[in-house]
Amino acid sequence: MSIFDNIDYTRIPTHTAIIMDGNGRWATNKGLERGEGHREGIRAITRVVEAASKISIKYLTLYAFSTENWKRPIEEVNGLMDLMVYAISQETENLKKNGVKINCIGDMNRLPEYASNALKECIYQTREGEKLTLIIALSYSSKWELTDATRKIANDVTKGDLKIDDISEETISMYLTTRSIPDPDLLIRTGGEQRISNFMLWQCAYAEFYFTDVYWPEFRENDLFDAVIEFQRRERRFGKISE
Ligand code: IPE
Ligand code: IPE
Ligand code: MG
Repeated sequence: MSIFDNIDYTRIPTHTAIIMDGNGRWATNKGLERGEGHREGIRAITRVVEAASKISIKYLTLYAFSTENWKRPIEEVNGLMDLMVYAISQETENLKKNGVKINCIGDMNRLPEYASNALKECIYQTREGEKLTLIIALSYSSKWELTDATRKIANDVTKGDLKIDDISEETISMYLTTRSIPDPDLLIRTGGEQRISNFMLWQCAYAEFYFTDVYWPEFRENDLFDAVIEFQRRERRFGKISE
């Protein structure tokens, strides 16, 4: 019996999000430069996108670079940008072929121009993908997103396009970068830390959290399936009581 048989295909988490952590420690433990960990991390992304597709996850968000990550040494930041641009350009055709549509959330204004251009091109090329939407959270943080949304709401109120009394939870959701994306059902964090690190604070209100010690470069198909199986064991009550 394979792990596949343990998955309930009627209860796949529609939106799975992953905080991909542990690249640096994986490399350091092996006596390698941190950059090697990021390189290996790209391979893990390819594996996990395929695995998510296999079990028909519809939305997969990968937290790739946080607003706070801009504070890392410039060499690491530049190395990461180069790697991401390279990976995106290399993978575009493959993603297109496999029906994967790329979306990006985060403060794109902070990205170097060559990186945002590469991303825009990939988003355009893959726009018709219908099997899986792959959302890359890049230069993203939830506090940045909520601040930005608040500014836009205030602006629309000032202009008279929005009434204060009409502001509901749905309105706020509509002003976030995730406006057309359902909230995550399952949030996985690799690398052993048990924290949210400024990721989708609003959207994860009812997400199921799954923490694993596996460093991101070592994360494989079966690790994703284990998380999904654990998710399926949970009872999601949304504040109500068991039936
Ligand atoms: C995650 O791995 C990748 C990014 C945050 C860009 P880290 O680089 O945070 O790896 P650790 O946590 O230092 O091991
Ligand atoms: C979270 O990892 C951000 C990403 C995975 C992109 P970090 O390594 O930046 O988080 P902290 O600093 O350990 O909280
Ligand atoms: Mg980390």
